[in-house]
Amino acid sequence: MKPRKIKNNIYWMGFVDWDSRLFDSLIPLPDGTSYNAYLIKGSEKTVLIDTVESDFYYELEAQLENVPKIDYVISLHAEQDHSGSIPRVLSKYPDAKLITSPKAKSILMDHLHIAEESIITVKDGETLSLGDKTLEFIHTPWVHWPETMVAFLKEDNILFSCDFFGSHIATTDLFVTDEARYYEAAKRYYAEIMMPFRKIIKRNLDKIAAYDIKTIAPSHGPIIPRPSLILDAHKNWVDDLPRNKVVLPYVSMHSSTKKMVDYLVAALVERGVTVEQFDLTVTDIGKLAMALVDVGTIVIGTPTILAGPHPHAAYAAFLANALRPNVKFLSIIGSYGWGGKTVETLAGLVPNLKVEILDPVLIKGAPKKDGLKALDDLAETIATKHKELGLE
Ligand code: FEO
Repeated sequence: MKPRKIKNNIYWMGFVDWDSRLFDSLIPLPDGTSYNAYLIKGSEKTVLIDTVESDFYYELEAQLENVPKIDYVISLHAEQDHSGSIPRVLSKYPDAKLITSPKAKSILMDHLHIAEESIITVKDGETLSLGDKTLEFIHTPWVHWPETMVAFLKEDNILFSCDFFGSHIATTDLFVTDEARYYEAAKRYYAEIMMPFRKIIKRNLDKIAAYDIKTIAPSHGPIIPRPSLILDAHKNWVDDLPRNKVVLPYVSMHSSTKKMVDYLVAALVERGVTVEQFDLTVTDIGKLAMALVDVGTIVIGTPTILAGPHPHAAYAAFLANALRPNVKFLSIIGSYGWGGKTVETLAGLVPNLKVEILDPVLIKGAPKKDGLKALDDLAETIATKHKELGLE
């Protein structure tokens, strides 16, 4: 794809990746993604903001064919999907300097072997004049590594946000046109990448609220011409109170745990609690992550196998622990044959979750009347706890 004009002297460059289905060898990419770079031609200086994954440099190189000079390459985030082509861009423009945050400097030197003398670091709030345009650098740690920053182009009111406000969508739309599709992808992206840093993101949102942002240009997915769409969504996602909702990831081997899941879901619905359930043998982990953004209670359903939880259930617990959703309660249900340490093992996998553990319901064999009564009691406890916290 050729460079695309955003405004006078401001261009999108980069690579639209239609084919990748996994990011960081972990995150599903059902709709592909893009790696966005931005070229800004000031009256005196020309800058390139971010680059692309090194495998796709050939596309960026072609886009730079008619750009005789770059004065500065700006690395907003040192992760390789944005920085991977910096060494080759610097080789193409040997007089260019690399501008980045102080924390990114060593990361870029370690991972990409960039020479120290090529790098200029910028403080929080520092500005760079391009002549008739001015960039201000705003340090925004943990969106999504500790070194990340964003850049605000003052005269055009554009925030170049890198991972912050990104979405994994491959599209020929330069700007968001289908807001519902973008919202879904952006929520998935937030859940998978940003949610562990929720409290710091809240501070970053407060920090950028001081700027008159009219356009957000992230380094994944389309450009956002209506910033309130994604700013309001983020305010909602980082909110302190989750929803009156249970997320129920489960595995069942011989239907007993599935019967318990179905019974508990019905009992929760009767009590006005929303439920999202996921069969872990087939579920899209990204969908599960999205469901965790506003979850009040997680209930893990698992049979006992080899004296512990099913490995899929252990993976779901480990993932939830890593993503650190703002969940308040956790419980475990499932069937066992003769014994084991399912509850202890799963509870030990979630030390990051600041949750109250509600009495698990483990049933020997297929559920009978007393087991179903225990599930009713668990549903009642969850509904009551949610009500006491004011979850809606
Ligand atoms: Fe898009 Fe954290 O890299």
